[in-house]
Amino acid sequence: MMATAVAHPNIALVKYWGKRDTALNLPAVPSLSLTLDGFSTTTTVTWDAPRDTVVFNGVRADEETTRKVAAVLDLVAPNRPPVGVVSDNDFPSAAGLASSSSGFSALVVAAAAAAGRSLSIEQLSVLARRGSGSACRSLWGGFVEWTLGERADGTDSHGVPVAPVDHWDVVMVVAIVSGKKKAVGSTSGMEASRATSPYYDAWVRTAPGRVDVGRSAVLARDLQALGEVMEASTFEMHALMHTTRPPIIYWQPATVACLHAVRRLRDEGIGAYATMDAGPNVKVLCLRSDAAAVARALREHVEDVRIAKPGGGVSVRIEP
Ligand code: PMV
Repeated sequence: MMATAVAHPNIALVKYWGKRDTALNLPAVPSLSLTLDGFSTTTTVTWDAPRDTVVFNGVRADEETTRKVAAVLDLVAPNRPPVGVVSDNDFPSAAGLASSSSGFSALVVAAAAAAGRSLSIEQLSVLARRGSGSACRSLWGGFVEWTLGERADGTDSHGVPVAPVDHWDVVMVVAIVSGKKKAVGSTSGMEASRATSPYYDAWVRTAPGRVDVGRSAVLARDLQALGEVMEASTFEMHALMHTTRPPIIYWQPATVACLHAVRRLRDEGIGAYATMDAGPNVKVLCLRSDAAAVARALREHVEDVRIAKPGGGVSVRIEP
């Protein structure tokens, strides 16, 4: 059977950086995210293909990606047949735009449908987490929390919806500083931070409180409270990266220019707040009514600026 799923990436408002179990991708910290419209991954899975193949953006995937995909497919159905995967992103991959979050959530949903397995959305979220931690949040649209869970096997560490896609008229204005593949992947970066940053323990200790503040701010539609906790979490995560040995520096000059532009917007009275992930791109949270002004300010520093509204969860169709 064949199935096609479409998923959107999510951007963390309160960040995930650090694992308590690397094999199971169990987080050391809880996190909170917003799923974005406007960017998407479309993945078609053919169950019972002549052999395992993964084609990613029109090109045969490298060995590491193929291995990761195969490992997740093995979890969807042990003793599976060979499977064909064709996946396309309509935005830059592996550049801190959360392409792994849409990629693995689309993969598990398409694979489960093609395999004829009916799994709950929480079970799908757990499987997506095994491919890439942040992917477990993309099963839902809108605002989503990824809870730590308590079980050793990780079956209770998955996404939990906080507020639906139409809850609040906020947008993320995305300044694409670079679409190039990041130099340090998130898994090796997190491990290096855990092993070498003197600030790692403080990061782990304070993260749950940040998620509590973020969740309340989302539910109260309080942009200032959410923006402030998002910036605090972002800069703490990057401080952790910068104090890793050797330091992990994702920022480019234009990243810093965008950060200053966001500060200036706030000085002018516009509620705009910045976040960054494992890459140089800057995403700015603001009300939809301020999106054009924010995009204009960012375009002074970066050519490619896009406005993304909150997006929905994963959709899937069985191919005839
Ligand atoms: O789940 P991964 O391996 O793609 O790591 C995501 C890490 C950050 O994007 C930096 C933060 C987050 O919570 O998404």
